[in-house]
Amino acid sequence: MDKIIRIAIDGPSGAGKSTIAKAVAKELGIDYIDTGAMYRAVGYKTISQNIDPQDAAAMGTMLDHTEIDFSQGNIILDGRIINEEIRTDAIAKRASQCSALPAVREKLVQLQRQMGQTKSVIMDGRDIGNNVLPDAEHKFFMTASAEERAQRRYEELAAKGQNVSYEQVLSDIQQRDHSDMTRELNPLRKAPDATEVDTTGMGIEAVTDYILKEIKK
Ligand code: DC
Repeated sequence: MDKIIRIAIDGPSGAGKSTIAKAVAKELGIDYIDTGAMYRAVGYKTISQNIDPQDAAAMGTMLDHTEIDFSQGNIILDGRIINEEIRTDAIAKRASQCSALPAVREKLVQLQRQMGQTKSVIMDGRDIGNNVLPDAEHKFFMTASAEERAQRRYEELAAKGQNVSYEQVLSDIQQRDHSDMTRELNPLRKAPDATEVDTTGMGIEAVTDYILKEIKK
């Protein structure tokens, strides 16, 4: 059997992690695991079942009866594909709240470690290099200025016909950065052995090529 390789990509929202991770996964023929989508799935379930994230008992019961999986590029929550439903700003906010809860992190990190045990994967998130896959063969920390990340997000939303202002998008990103970096449990932080990639002013292809080159070194 070929050697398993695990690639960790961490960084703040909008740095381009998932676009790049998908492209690298395709190029290398390995699985892509979007861990942010897993926190979004939990956030989505709390909203659709009207569960208060601060209600520890209700959260515990819900988590015990939750299955999250990936198949053919789809995220599956309790047997249902939820790719589109989790891509709203309301779910992003709720996911960020849920991601600060120990019970949620415990469950999702365990699942993520299992996913990275038996096959080659590229996993993106906030705590992959430091916590989920500390022994990953390759680690990257992807950043971009808050202004550029806001601009990318703003263009994405405008293309979907959503009526938002750039200032609002920037302020949401700054707030989310702050809570992801200052939460007590596994905050967003560059792993000491990760390679930092600042994607400000760089196109998708250039970043993908750079990462592939680093991996093949
Ligand atoms: O990358 P994203 O925007 O889809 O992530 C959604 C939320 O989940 C975000 O607020 C950060 C959190 N998250 C996390 O705490 N740990 C991860 N490994 C991935 C995401």
